[in-house]
Amino acid sequence: MIKIKNLSKTYKDVQALDGLNLEVKKGQVYGFLGPNGAGKSTTILSTLGLIYPQQGRIELFGEEVFRDGRFHEKTLMNAKKRIGYMPEHATLWDFLTPMQTLDMIGESFGMSKEERVRRSRELLELLNLWEVKDKKVGKFSKGMRQRVLLAQALINDPELLILDEPMTGLDPTGIAEFKDLIRAQKREGKTVFFSSHILAHVEEVCDTVGVIVRGKLRVEDSIENIKGDFLRKGGYLILLETDKPVSFDSANWQVERVSETKYKIKSPDDIRPQINELVWGQGAKILQLMVRAPSLEEIFLKMVEEGNGKK
Ligand SMILES: Nc1ncnc2c1ncn2[C@@H]1O[C@H](COP(=O)(O)OP(=O)(O)O)[C@@H](O)[C@H]1O
Ligand SMILES: [Mg+2]
Repeated sequence: MIKIKNLSKTYKDVQALDGLNLEVKKGQVYGFLGPNGAGKSTTILSTLGLIYPQQGRIELFGEEVFRDGRFHEKTLMNAKKRIGYMPEHATLWDFLTPMQTLDMIGESFGMSKEERVRRSRELLELLNLWEVKDKKVGKFSKGMRQRVLLAQALINDPELLILDEPMTGLDPTGIAEFKDLIRAQKREGKTVFFSSHILAHVEEVCDTVGVIVRGKLRVEDSIENIKGDFLRKGGYLILLETDKPVSFDSANWQVERVSETKYKIKSPDDIRPQINELVWGQGAKILQLMVRAPSLEEIFLKMVEEGNGKK
């Protein structure tokens, strides 16, 4: 649905995208994750032809819409008819009701009055807004406003939904509700591409996660595999019974000494076959060895660190 190859974008002296590669496949819910300033909005705006990248290639629905500084306007226009977009800092007309808002947006898509009424009702019901359809959105909570914005993005029954930080600022209930709405879209056969700088937003709802740090995609995989990869890299916490510090110099591990009896060890290989002997040899005993399962937060931070290291 979306294929981005080697995309670069510089704003004056800021390199926002640095050879970004990314692929969103049909039917996926793709979480586009990265810290603030990583280049998420720049990627999305480029994909929609709302800003001009300098280099690279963008395909939408299998058709090239951008290559090396030029958009193919007609192909892009046709593709955009099949896309629903929710911008990061979208605004609503506070004095309009959800019904009026959708009617107006529907009109801008050239939908007939009949079609607008039918589609608005369908969406307001789906998004739990039917009861407040005639209340002004100015009085709405953040969660309700986000749902009106989602309804807007869905008005033309798009095949592909692109949402920029749709869950930011929502409370846990709002987030859970929004995830349900995304799942419902997936069941409808839609492809969803959404960005977030918060890990919890992509968990449970995405099939695939792409992590962008400093304008480059660092990984693109399932959450399970991202976690698995990290686990295989190894993270252990060992507790020793010893009366003197133990040296791990003979092993090729990354060791952090927490105290005389507590060590954190990282290694690309399983340390367990080796560690017992090493510790015994120094007159100490292992009391406990824990394999630390990292949270996504840790994985994310690690990637950010690596990204910074490459500066
Ligand atoms: N219009 C702009 N002019 C100059 N710099 C910009 C502009 N928009 C974004 N940037 C910079 O580009 C980088 C990427 O921004 P952005 O794509 O908005 O990141 P994200 O959406 O991941 O938070 C940041 O360093 C940001 O400050
Ligand atoms: Mg952004």
